[in-house]
Amino acid sequence: MNMEFFDNAAQCFPDACFTRPVDVGFVLGSGWSDALEMDEIITRISYGDIPGLGASTVKGHAGEFILYRRGSMRIAAWCGRRHYYEEGRWENVVLPVEMLRRMGCSTLVLTNASGGINPALRPGDFVIIRDHLNLAGINPLIGPHRPEWGERFPDMTEVYTRRLAELMHASANRLSLRAMDGVYAYTTGPLYETPAEIMAYKAQGADVVGMSTVPEAVFAKACGMKIAGLSLVTNLAAGISRQALDHAEVVGAAAEAKPRMKALFENFLSRL
Ligand code: HPA
Repeated sequence: MNMEFFDNAAQCFPDACFTRPVDVGFVLGSGWSDALEMDEIITRISYGDIPGLGASTVKGHAGEFILYRRGSMRIAAWCGRRHYYEEGRWENVVLPVEMLRRMGCSTLVLTNASGGINPALRPGDFVIIRDHLNLAGINPLIGPHRPEWGERFPDMTEVYTRRLAELMHASANRLSLRAMDGVYAYTTGPLYETPAEIMAYKAQGADVVGMSTVPEAVFAKACGMKIAGLSLVTNLAAGISRQALDHAEVVGAAAEAKPRMKALFENFLSRL
């Protein structure tokens, strides 16, 4: 990846973003964009104003970076994410994590929408990501080694920090939300899967499937961040339900879940 791309992007963030470490960073995926509401906005930047990034191309993805104050904490939210399938390159996908790293952020919350494979899951359920399968076979660390992004061969034993997952569970329990631990399978998309693929992923141990999160998670893990992964099941995966899949269903299910997302984040942040 091209470091100059990140250096240029960093220049459009005001000094206020770098003067004190960000405590928690969020990358808010499909339908999650406005699930955070904090006391005070320190700064906001539209994606269109970040050199190289440009406006979001996917429905359900807003395109704004917001730095909030929450009591004595600083919370940064990337409202809307970039996917590898949009441009076939990694820079825009990892830009949010790289900017958070430069802002001194050590705790990252990654969210997404997914298709449910585990038969216990219903649309509207949360899955607290315990581990993942990178079925894409590619990742953003392929290329020349950059020491600022960690070791050449980073350990991936605990990508999603157990302690953060436990806090997320405690919050979900407290709020009586349906949430289970699960393995997230990543495919590049933009295709939905075939029923045969879903059967194969199920046999490999996947509980949910989606087109995001894993690239940011492996990059952030290599950089030494603590990570929480949270998925909203918006539909049953291909072949699990007989219905054809479409993005409107994903966006609709996420909209319905918005009050629960807000409550979950609020409770989770109060435990940090
Ligand atoms: N497959 C892949 N990505 C998804 C799905 C799905 O069924 N639902 C939401 N994102």
